[in-house]
Amino acid sequence: RIPVIIDTDPGVDDTLALLLALASEELEILAITISFGNTDVDASLINIFKIFHTLDKHFKRFPEDRARFPNFGRPIIVARGAAGPLQGELFSAQYFHGRDGLSDITNRHPEIALDQNNPAHSSLVLTETAAEDVVLDLIRSHSPRAITYVALGPVTNLAMLLRKDRSTIQQRLGRVVSMGGALEVPGNTSPVAEFNFFADPYAVREIFQPDGIPLERFVLLPLDITTPHDMPFPQYRTLIDPKFGTPATPSKEEDKRPIHHFTSSFLEKTGEVMRSFGKDAVELHDPVAIWCALSNPPVVDETVEGPTLQPGWKAVRRHFEIERIGEFTRGMLVVDRREDEGAYDEGANRAETQAKLEHELHSHVPTLNQVQ
Ligand code: BDR
Ligand code: CA
Repeated sequence: RIPVIIDTDPGVDDTLALLLALASEELEILAITISFGNTDVDASLINIFKIFHTLDKHFKRFPEDRARFPNFGRPIIVARGAAGPLQGELFSAQYFHGRDGLSDITNRHPEIALDQNNPAHSSLVLTETAAEDVVLDLIRSHSPRAITYVALGPVTNLAMLLRKDRSTIQQRLGRVVSMGGALEVPGNTSPVAEFNFFADPYAVREIFQPDGIPLERFVLLPLDITTPHDMPFPQYRTLIDPKFGTPATPSKEEDKRPIHHFTSSFLEKTGEVMRSFGKDAVELHDPVAIWCALSNPPVVDETVEGPTLQPGWKAVRRHFEIERIGEFTRGMLVVDRREDEGAYDEGANRAETQAKLEHELHSHVPTLNQVQ
């Protein structure tokens, strides 16, 4: 098993990603560190408990499903991290994820709210120690490079880790998988910026400095790779919840398997928002990052061929800077294409690179039905 620390801002797709991680035999979740991002850090933290209490309810009715979540039941440390960016204005994505980060589900489905007298969960070890100290302790107590760090939100916590103890991070942290940025495709928060990198471009800049995270251990998953992986709602209805999106007959908790009741409850609003953008699907940005961590692909130069290359994975190198203060371009990745082969060939290289990224990764990420 690969020991992982998941740094997250749940968040609709973060929650799907966490369910995937909990169901993964390949991973051993050591800690979940929380960040501001989709909503504020406290609301994000509470969502971790909602996931675990939902699983409790589920296993009470369907005990046979317990075996499908090998990471559930082991102690997992939960620690609060950054409440805002290193610098610059604080933004959230509540318009998309809701005030509570989960489409404000408890307004429509109060049964999902936590018991205020007892929100704790026996598997979650909530600590008052700051996220970066928890992570450093774990890194020091494991063999060098054993731990994979998966960043599903703004990378502020990662930048704080570097500021606190650069040499431990550089020498002892294993792979870093980060969902963020948009290289060759438009942004999803502005015409040019992806949300996680838009939320704290200063932190992005710090982690990509020459004395930041060692590049050979860094896997960046930008929108170019993650957006093509989505779950169309008609497919969700067929595979998971036939009653999904039928407000005329609002679903009752007892009609559904509790995990499906939970995911359907927050995906209802996601569906509404996505359809207003002209797409009847939920994009699986953060689950792709978990999939990358559990598949553990070797990072190779695109020019390297041979036995080390796991089928279906290929890394491409890109040189970029992140825009921090642009009037219209905060969070944009300014890619230096001057040295790309054919860079001056009327865009041929761009189309080829994008097709390559999509082709190489698309067929290797499972859809939700494979991981439910
Ligand atoms: C990323 O931004 C967030 O809204 C999602 O959770 C994901 O991490 C996609 O741009
Ligand atoms: Ca996220």
